[in-house]
Amino acid sequence: MRKLNFILYIPTKVVFGSGVVNRVGHEASKLGITRALLVTTRGGSLRRFGYVNMVMNSLQSSGIETELFAEVFTNPTAELADVGADVCRSYRCDGVIGLGGGSAIDVAKSIAIIALQGGRAEEYLKGERKAEKALPIIAIPTTHGTGTEVNRFAVLTDIKTLAKVAIASSAIYPRTAILDPELTKTLPPKLSAATTIDAFTHALESYIGLGATAVVDLFAEEAIREILQYAPKLLNNLSNVEIRSHLLYASMCAGIAISHGRTGVMHALEHAVSAFHPEVHHGIGLAALMLSWAKYIAPRVKEKFINIARLAKVPIEKLTIDEALQKTIALLEDLLKKLDLRIRLRDLGVEEGELRDLAENAMRNLQVLINNTPGNPSIEDLIEILRQAL
Ligand SMILES: [Fe+2]
Repeated sequence: MRKLNFILYIPTKVVFGSGVVNRVGHEASKLGITRALLVTTRGGSLRRFGYVNMVMNSLQSSGIETELFAEVFTNPTAELADVGADVCRSYRCDGVIGLGGGSAIDVAKSIAIIALQGGRAEEYLKGERKAEKALPIIAIPTTHGTGTEVNRFAVLTDIKTLAKVAIASSAIYPRTAILDPELTKTLPPKLSAATTIDAFTHALESYIGLGATAVVDLFAEEAIREILQYAPKLLNNLSNVEIRSHLLYASMCAGIAISHGRTGVMHALEHAVSAFHPEVHHGIGLAALMLSWAKYIAPRVKEKFINIARLAKVPIEKLTIDEALQKTIALLEDLLKKLDLRIRLRDLGVEEGELRDLAENAMRNLQVLINNTPGNPSIEDLIEILRQAL
């Protein structure tokens, strides 16, 4: 039964469509931004593809000055956000624009808090300081995965404690999200697949989570439906704007779903994996965990789990419940296969001897996500999920 007891809060203005990146200047000036800090990745590919220039030109034509902070790397640290906040303050920027994947946007969100409120990222991550206000944030994703452009989370890693956790605050909802599928066309195959799985697992975990409401279901089901329809075609059609549009839209829907319902144990475990192994991309870690998670979760939320197959129009009505559960797990397995992501944790450098530490790290740092997972998973359950994925 759908839970009709919820708060619906989507304060982000979403501008979606091919070519809308050229509206960023217009949108920024509507927010009163006169000098923007443009936060993006270190690698240089976004500059090479011309995306950085598109944003800067649009800002310039609206009379907005731009300072570039192109320093973001995978699994960004709290210290990086502190450095960015110093740059933001020293150039007296009055707005922050994140261009890139989740890492770039989450660093932009963190900078927007620290530059205005002071303190260090670590203090916000530990809850010693509350994020109450932030400079206006504009998010321009170039991947279709995190949904951070429409949610209240900024994930950073505290390298001292190996905790990959989020600053969660209503203050860091981006004021505007510019969702231009043209910017995702150049994403390489591995990242295209990995970010799709990130969005998919947001939808799955919020959907079967204990915090699911009618609103979470609405957005999660839409994301699941879209991803199961379009993701299998992705790797053979990387520059197809229609497919990219549907996946970017699905990622946004899944982002709204987790902002209202949270993820669960799969994300808690993946954050531990990529905190221990910072070279592991979040979506790849999730792909390694997904089937083992599904086997744990399926018998605990049977009806809802089977709905995943219904959303993909897989005929299950004549099957027994157990057969339908198996069919749904096979559907997830097939998605991973079509995205070329049939990988094991071992392939990512995880070893048997680490499993307990990973499970304890997840339990310690992301209890809130474990608590959102049906079945009240114990530390032994967590270790078993990891072991099955090894
Ligand atoms: Fe995620």
